[in-house]
Amino acid sequence: MSVKRLTNIAHRGASAYAPENTLAAFDLALDMGVNDIELDVHFTKDNYIVVIHDDTVERTTNGVGYVSGLTLAQLKKLDAGSWFGKGFSEQRISTLTDVLDRYWGQLNFHIEIKARSVPGLASKTCDMVRNYGIENNVVITSFWKQWVEEAKSHAPEIKTGWLVPLGPGSPWNDSLVDEAVEAKFNQLCPRAELITPTLVNKIQNRGLEVRCHGVFNEDLMRKAVKCGVDGMTINFPDKLRDYLSENDYLID
Ligand code: G3P
Ligand code: CA
Repeated sequence: MSVKRLTNIAHRGASAYAPENTLAAFDLALDMGVNDIELDVHFTKDNYIVVIHDDTVERTTNGVGYVSGLTLAQLKKLDAGSWFGKGFSEQRISTLTDVLDRYWGQLNFHIEIKARSVPGLASKTCDMVRNYGIENNVVITSFWKQWVEEAKSHAPEIKTGWLVPLGPGSPWNDSLVDEAVEAKFNQLCPRAELITPTLVNKIQNRGLEVRCHGVFNEDLMRKAVKCGVDGMTINFPDKLRDYLSENDYLID
């Protein structure tokens, strides 16, 4: 019997249970025995790389404004946890350095270049990864193909994944597989609702890993596992961990 493996990636940390993209959410993922976390990065006004999902701070902090319009000092003053629950008021927006310093050697990082207009962010992220010597523990991802290409051309030794298709509800198109192969990306990352065993095979047969996203419930989680994906981001990695273990997957 062949060994079954699947990468269980805590999406924005264990974000079903703690405020997304905070140290609380990443700590919790680690406590759950997860080896991989996903996080989103942006540039601040003063060119630091910070870990936050949206272009603006309103949804996940008590502040106002664009991340790219605020300095790191301004961003660090914000409460990034109370929106999620009372016990999280000490959570702050982290820099990428904060996260790599804390989890280096313990976790693998799936870093998403989130914004559309951020030339240089992918390269600077790769440089930071090189400084930590964790090139083998990182995948750079984005919905924006140009940032995945920037990472691939700047640091070909670091794995890349392209999140597809762009836009919620947008349909699948097989030409995405051709484009990813041609660009020499390592992973294609389709939305979970679109995958089928045939599509997973088609992508894997072209030499790409299939790492899906948008796994919003346990039915989608089980479907993705059964379709044979190589990995997925998920807000409740404890449930995936248990399901994999019940189904004889190897826990790395
Ligand atoms: O795994 C990719 C996923 O994080 C992409 O969507 O919006 O959650 O960043 P989003
Ligand atoms: Ca993300």
